[in-house]
Amino acid sequence: MFPTHRPRRLRRNPAIRRLVAETSVEPRQLVLPMFVKEGAREPVAIRSMPGVFQHTRDSLRKAAVEAVEAGVGGLMLFGVPQKRDATGSGGIDPDGILNVALRDVRAEVGDATVLMSDCCLDEFTDHGHCGVLAPDGSVDNDATLSIYGEMAVAQAEAGAHLIGPSGMMDGQVGIIREALDRAGLLDTGILAYSAKYSSAFYGPFREAVESQLKGDRKTYQQDGANVREALREVQLDLAEGADLVMVKPALAYLDVIRAISEISDVPVAAYQISGEYAMIEAAAANGWIDRRPAVLETLTSIRRAGADVILTYWAVEAAQWLNQG
Ligand code: PBG
Repeated sequence: MFPTHRPRRLRRNPAIRRLVAETSVEPRQLVLPMFVKEGAREPVAIRSMPGVFQHTRDSLRKAAVEAVEAGVGGLMLFGVPQKRDATGSGGIDPDGILNVALRDVRAEVGDATVLMSDCCLDEFTDHGHCGVLAPDGSVDNDATLSIYGEMAVAQAEAGAHLIGPSGMMDGQVGIIREALDRAGLLDTGILAYSAKYSSAFYGPFREAVESQLKGDRKTYQQDGANVREALREVQLDLAEGADLVMVKPALAYLDVIRAISEISDVPVAAYQISGEYAMIEAAAANGWIDRRPAVLETLTSIRRAGADVILTYWAVEAAQWLNQG
């Protein structure tokens, strides 16, 4: 009798496929990134991210409650300020939009989910870079660090459980840990964007935060050709006190997620970014791809690669699908 081996036996119906599935995605593993726009009276739709909005303070609170009800594991907040300046001072100001929004959401949902904040200057600077600039126009790593420290303290005091440094400055995790500890914020953790690549897939996000950037971030974000460099960044962030490490983007860097999950002794997160979202939404809107299975397939792939936590703009909808079974 041939064939003697029949792997198809384990695929013959949904029940057996469910029994032997190696990877699962659960709502608790999903984190919803959210945008809040200073002074907005109505939520503003983001053209390149259908279904995603720049929230008002009010609509943000409501969306946060909806996300908690869907069972998502966390919320990651980004602010869109009305005014920007050379040093991104709106990020440190307790009355800056991101800090105000953190306070709002924390008051609304308490500890029912994990509240995270983007700790980076690009939304707050008038030049759009993730750090302050030296006189010659280059990004000044060390001058940026002390601002990150202050920003992290402001965010923690506003209610963030986890601070998410995303600027890829050398030493950012260490300086933030030190600043938090010095302020007595010992329980506030750090979700380090450890391996963040310079990517063409950030395009829609730049619309979402009305980015002022001209040029690129290649002097601080990683080169997509490299994986060894990502491992080194992770090791440094672990040594500096990261509580979780993150890879970003996700789909084009599944091998990096895998490599990092094998060396990390803290949970690994992956960020399915704006361009990954936009690609599937655009294809689905054209009837070229079946949206729901496509989304779930990407989430499963990211988990299979080794991510414990996934930041995704589909977090709430995917959680609702998963809850339906
Ligand atoms: C920096 C930051 C960016 C994203 C998250 N944090 C933008 C960038 O590095 O240009 C991108 C997220 C996405 O594309 O969904 N504050």
